[in-house]
Amino acid sequence: MEVEVAQASDLRLDGSKVQARVNGRYVSIFNVKGELYCIDAICYHAGGPLTVGDIEDVDGKACVRCPWHNYIVTVQTGEKLYQKLVKTEEGKLVPGGWDSVGQRQRTHRVFERSGAVFVVVDEEGSFESDKYSSDEACGRRLVS
Ligand code: FES
Repeated sequence: MEVEVAQASDLRLDGSKVQARVNGRYVSIFNVKGELYCIDAICYHAGGPLTVGDIEDVDGKACVRCPWHNYIVTVQTGEKLYQKLVKTEEGKLVPGGWDSVGQRQRTHRVFERSGAVFVVVDEEGSFESDKYSSDEACGRRLVS
């Protein structure tokens, strides 16, 4: 079921963000270069507030950086990215590019219609961010 979460004007600018409650779940909606993305608002790691995280381009992917422990999560796929280490011939470990541990943050469908923004919550399967999806679980962790 689609739920209206904002006016399109609230998310018109690149980098704008909105937090909303949809079907009892808190979600973050981001405008990144004109595209809208929606993910669970509470970080799967330890409950950090992703809506206030910085949006960054990491390895060509739009990501939010969690303000609590700097985890990097793609806003399109909910994957957690990390910088892998590779061993040089001398045996030193050096950064070897970005990789994904897979999807940890649930993503949701978001779209604009007639001047409003709508979200359709995805409830298929299970993801680590689900543990913070209830009011009881995320209560004090939210920012307004
Ligand atoms: Fe630890 Fe988000 S709460 S990285």
